[in-house]
Amino acid sequence: VCALYQNDKLSGQHWVITAGPTREAIDPVRYISNHSSGKMGFSLAQAAQQAGANVTLIAGPVHLNTPQSVKRIDVESAEQMHKQALTYANEATVFISCAAVADYRVAQIADHKIKKTDDNQEMQIKLVKNPDIVADVAQLTNKPYTVGFAAETQNIEQYALDKLKRKNLDLIAANNVATSGQGFNSDNNALTVYSTNNKFDIDLADKSLVAQQLVALIAEQLD
Ligand code: CTP
Ligand code: CA
Repeated sequence: VCALYQNDKLSGQHWVITAGPTREAIDPVRYISNHSSGKMGFSLAQAAQQAGANVTLIAGPVHLNTPQSVKRIDVESAEQMHKQALTYANEATVFISCAAVADYRVAQIADHKIKKTDDNQEMQIKLVKNPDIVADVAQLTNKPYTVGFAAETQNIEQYALDKLKRKNLDLIAANNVATSGQGFNSDNNALTVYSTNNKFDIDLADKSLVAQQLVALIAEQLD
């Protein structure tokens, strides 16, 4: 890990990283989202930049400062993130999909605030599936080295390997979001990283340390 950061090993490389949640509007004042803090993705952006890479960070709505010398593109919805990701990934060395992308968006965003009515004790909102950003990046003719995340609460290895294969990824970093004190909205994380024929453990630590190790692992796999 140290050698990577001393030698600017990633100089000349372009790394594109997505981070944070997406926000799917219901009406002008409401949305559907999730608890992703963006910390893991921002830490990865900082680690890659410190190792010498040119970094583009595509961020959903989060309350975090932009790491030094990182180009940040702010987006809200999954569709906006999809558009920016495909644009930047097309000329990237590495693409890391760390964002917690909403799987579904509201089918018809209301133009005005939805009012409750006296007679309706229930309401329904129709959702439609969002595009799969990392899977679409992995289909590019100019496919970068593509890394996904898998947030799971059970059957971690099986689900992670299934996503690796189904989305045509080079690497997938799985974290158990059911364990308290790691992953979603926490300062710490522990990862099990899978390639098609290998498995690597990154022990529970502060996300900035975990990020440095993951960046080093990706750099090693690229060699
Ligand atoms: N992902 C993405 N675009 C989506 C959904 C997910 O790019 N519309 C990416 C995430 O950034 C992550 C990987 O796909 O790198 C896996 O996300 P995850 O939510 O764990 O998997 P899904 O395929 O959405 O399946 P499920 O939520 O049902 O487990
Ligand atoms: Ca999902």
